Amino acid sequence: METNPDLLYLAPFQGITDYIFRSAFATHFGGLDAVFTPYLANSPGGKVNPRKLRDFLPQNNEAIKTIPQILSKDAVEMITMANEFSEMGYKVMNWNLGCPFPQVAKKMRGSGLLPHPDFIKKIMDEVIPAISIGLSVKTRVGYHEPDEIFKLMEVLNQYPIDEIIIHPRTGVQLYRGFAQPDDFEACIHRTSFPLAYNGDIFTPENFNSLKSRFPNIKRWMIGRGALRNPFLPYAIKYNSLLPEKERRTALENFSFGILEDSLARKQEITHILDHQKALWQYLSYTFDDRTSAFRRIRKVSTIEAFRPLLRGIIRNDALAGFIALTDTDPMNGIEVVEG
Ligand SMILES: Cc1cc2nc3c(=O)[nH]c(=O)nc-3n(C[C@H](O)[C@H](O)[C@H](O)COP(=O)(O)O)c2cc1C
Repeated sequence: METNPDLLYLAPFQGITDYIFRSAFATHFGGLDAVFTPYLANSPGGKVNPRKLRDFLPQNNEAIKTIPQILSKDAVEMITMANEFSEMGYKVMNWNLGCPFPQVAKKMRGSGLLPHPDFIKKIMDEVIPAISIGLSVKTRVGYHEPDEIFKLMEVLNQYPIDEIIIHPRTGVQLYRGFAQPDDFEACIHRTSFPLAYNGDIFTPENFNSLKSRFPNIKRWMIGRGALRNPFLPYAIKYNSLLPEKERRTALENFSFGILEDSLARKQEITHILDHQKALWQYLSYTFDDRTSAFRRIRKVSTIEAFRPLLRGIIRNDALAGFIALTDTDPMNGIEVVEG
């Protein structure tokens, strides 16, 4: 089978892509080269809460290469986190400079740091000499304006950076409108570090058109497109789609794998159902009548009712193809509120 040699990454989603999700995805859908964890944050005083580390434990991340992510503006905190990850055997950690959500950005974290390249430099001066693992960066192109990234690039170029993943939207844009390949292009000649493209890859055609525009880019991060239709990474990697029966089996094994694994780990039932609903906000796009699938799932309040409903939808509802993002897509900025 023809294999695309480019690296495909699964984007992190706080509240959705925990280790149970990531392992199940890699096992049942494939097509990915690596996954990024949702960010680790708020570890003041040089200590990480051990409960928060569960998502990163090597034994929970054996299914696929995993890169741990952090959200911070505090050098001491970043060094503490890097030490934890280094002890766990990780070789690289990823710094989130992209999170746009106001409660994060207003505190000068995530994309809220982008208007402050001098402050980023101060952090780097402290962090880089003190950590024994590599640092990569995931960023938007700016907080207010898409050219803020140029100053960031000038700063990052002064340090050894493992890779830079760019989502060409601004922070204030949240998820409105579309990712702007022009703004990504403007970054390409500004650094010699490997760049990865992240944004609005929802169909193999979306990927192919970006690849033909940026033939030298070899790393691609896929977020909502993979959550909405988890056969997307495989379709891009192998230029093929499993037969419908096998796709339904993969969906069933994936969904029930997550459900039963969460139950086995004694997570609270309300948490499990909330997590499933968050996940199905995306996964419902795998089905032709996504509104109907999501409406039925949203109503459920017990595991006993959830199991047969889930099985019925996966076995009987008509499957959809890959659906590109449109102006009127409810995911275009409106529905997605947390993170
Ligand atoms: C609910 C939600 C949670 C997210 N959590 C994170 C996160 O923890 N870390 C991060 O770097 N990006 C996070 N993102 C951003 C995605 O990883 C990704 O960069 C973004 O969706 C753009 O890629 P896409 O167009 O392929 O979806 C989150 C996005 C959403 C909608």
